[in-house]
Amino acid sequence: MTEPRRLRVLLLAHSFNSLTQRLFAQLRGSRHKVSLELDISDSVTEEAVVLFRPDVVLAPFLKRRITESVWRQHLCLVVHPGVPGDRGPSSLDRAILRGELRWGVTVLQATGEFDAGPVWASESFEMRAGTKASLYRNEVTACAVAAVQQCLRRLERGEEAPALPAEAHTGQFWPLLRQTERAIDWSRDDTATVLRKIRSADGAPGLAGSLFGKPCHFFDAHDATAAARELPGAAGDVVARRAHALLRKTVDGGVWIGHACVAPDPSDEPPLKLPAAEIFAEFTARLPDLPVPLSRDPSQWDELRYREIGPQGARVGVLTFDFYNGAMSSRQCGRLLDALREVRTRDTRVLVLAGGADFFSNGIHLNTIEAEGQRAGGSAADASLRNIEAIDDVVLEILTMTERLTVAALRGNAGAGGVFLALSADEAWAHPGVVLNAHYKNMGNLYGSEYWTYVLPRRLGAQRARELTQARLPQLAGDAAEDGFLDACFGDDAASFFDRAMQRAQALAGSPGYEEQLARKQRRRAIEESEKPLAAYREEELAQMRRNFYGFDPSYHVARYHFVHKLAHAWTPRHLALHRTEPPR
Ligand code: COA
Repeated sequence: MTEPRRLRVLLLAHSFNSLTQRLFAQLRGSRHKVSLELDISDSVTEEAVVLFRPDVVLAPFLKRRITESVWRQHLCLVVHPGVPGDRGPSSLDRAILRGELRWGVTVLQATGEFDAGPVWASESFEMRAGTKASLYRNEVTACAVAAVQQCLRRLERGEEAPALPAEAHTGQFWPLLRQTERAIDWSRDDTATVLRKIRSADGAPGLAGSLFGKPCHFFDAHDATAAARELPGAAGDVVARRAHALLRKTVDGGVWIGHACVAPDPSDEPPLKLPAAEIFAEFTARLPDLPVPLSRDPSQWDELRYREIGPQGARVGVLTFDFYNGAMSSRQCGRLLDALREVRTRDTRVLVLAGGADFFSNGIHLNTIEAEGQRAGGSAADASLRNIEAIDDVVLEILTMTERLTVAALRGNAGAGGVFLALSADEAWAHPGVVLNAHYKNMGNLYGSEYWTYVLPRRLGAQRARELTQARLPQLAGDAAEDGFLDACFGDDAASFFDRAMQRAQALAGSPGYEEQLARKQRRRAIEESEKPLAAYREEELAQMRRNFYGFDPSYHVARYHFVHKLAHAWTPRHLALHRTEPPR
């Protein structure tokens, strides 16, 4: 039997987004040679294919067509988040709005017509009530990886695209969805419809509407019916707040709106997606605040939630902190710290830190920091330092939780400080779909804090820790577990992982070796504290961070500005664009 071909795969993407990172890491781990070029201009793409001479150009996430000079000479496969035959730029948005029960991902060959080339592979998934971005990061990404692998297997064997029967093409061409097509009619739309409309536009572009008379876009919406029932007001009225979210009545209940983005004055900075109650602080201060306890009925939404499972004497506490986009502002860190202090008083043997459903955590909240810098008299440097101190306090609380065992269960990706927050637990578990970015350097050479100089070398050793943070590459959870960076990687998807993680945590709490394991943890912490106190790690990291925030080199502030405003890339980082560093073939 002949060996399958080793392919040269050039990834072409608008940005190094979650799907592109997942494919990049997955394909690099296979026998193929993978390089990446960001879709900056046609001439840059042309140059990349000349330098790399790919067997296939794979486009997981594009906002423009591939130039004809490239698709005519090279096989170009485009990942489209729609079923075969479905065409157009708002595929997933429309599928959510139409209430499709199943949707899919298609890999098709680029030709002169948009999304209309031969279909190479397709996969389908069951739809669930989630935001577009959440479906994209989970179901779409899993299907895209599977479909791309099918295509590469074909190519390895030298096969062409399979001819799909006409009836397999179930979709059609749909143009870009306009805001008017999903506008909310507050006098008519029920809660389910309002949620579906907002979710169809979340993370981008957001659903256009207005709040307190100001045009804005809505994001981060949740069912508020349980809270809205008792409150007076007409459909469309904003009647209360909880944490950063505003409660807006609907005809049959209400929705929480967590984030918004105000349309800018032409003279202003571009708009930022921010916590709704903070944007409209002048109007919301007089609204009733409706706090809820950490342990409560699931119908009552809040970012933080706590529950306990397992028998008395072997109880497990489970704390979720579902912060939008995994970003943790000073205020959110403060709330999480309070929650940790509260759950520490409970009689549990294991505390599971479950992060959010889509992201475990992405570290400090760069948007709120940017907004603080834009405020008259505000300082982004001060806001950055406050935020890093606040997240450090959270990590410290976990590191010093020596009266029980702690587990971080990563249902979604983690980046920068969010990864080290996970590593502050005694054990860190994830499922194979999770991608980790355990480095800060991409954010303008940020040094990083969150006690990473303590938790990382402790797991990997100094040399490997240095390599990992310098490499600035996304890492698959499976590889991280093999490396000793994570303690375990299991499950087929986030849901099956979490079920198994709950069982595992209960087994840990009830295990005969529990007392000994806890005693070992206490001894190790005491020894390490005597060798070098945690306060010393923190102070050293913060000394570097102060230089990042207040020093003469503005790289961090520039990188943050680019990141929060999603400015187009001007070049592809060299550590990703192998074809720009390897010798010509
Ligand atoms: N602060 C504010 N927003 C953040 C954020 C942060 N720390 N991290 C991610 N986000 C937002 C993104 O802006 C994006 O917003 P959108 O919904 O408006 O599109 C959303 O979260 C998803 O992020 P995205 O970059 O598309 O996700 P990804 O899975 O493709 O990439 C990361 C993940 C972690 C690589 C990337 O988000 C990142 O570099 N984040 C910054 C991490 C950081 O430097 N934190 C500060 C130091 S602790």
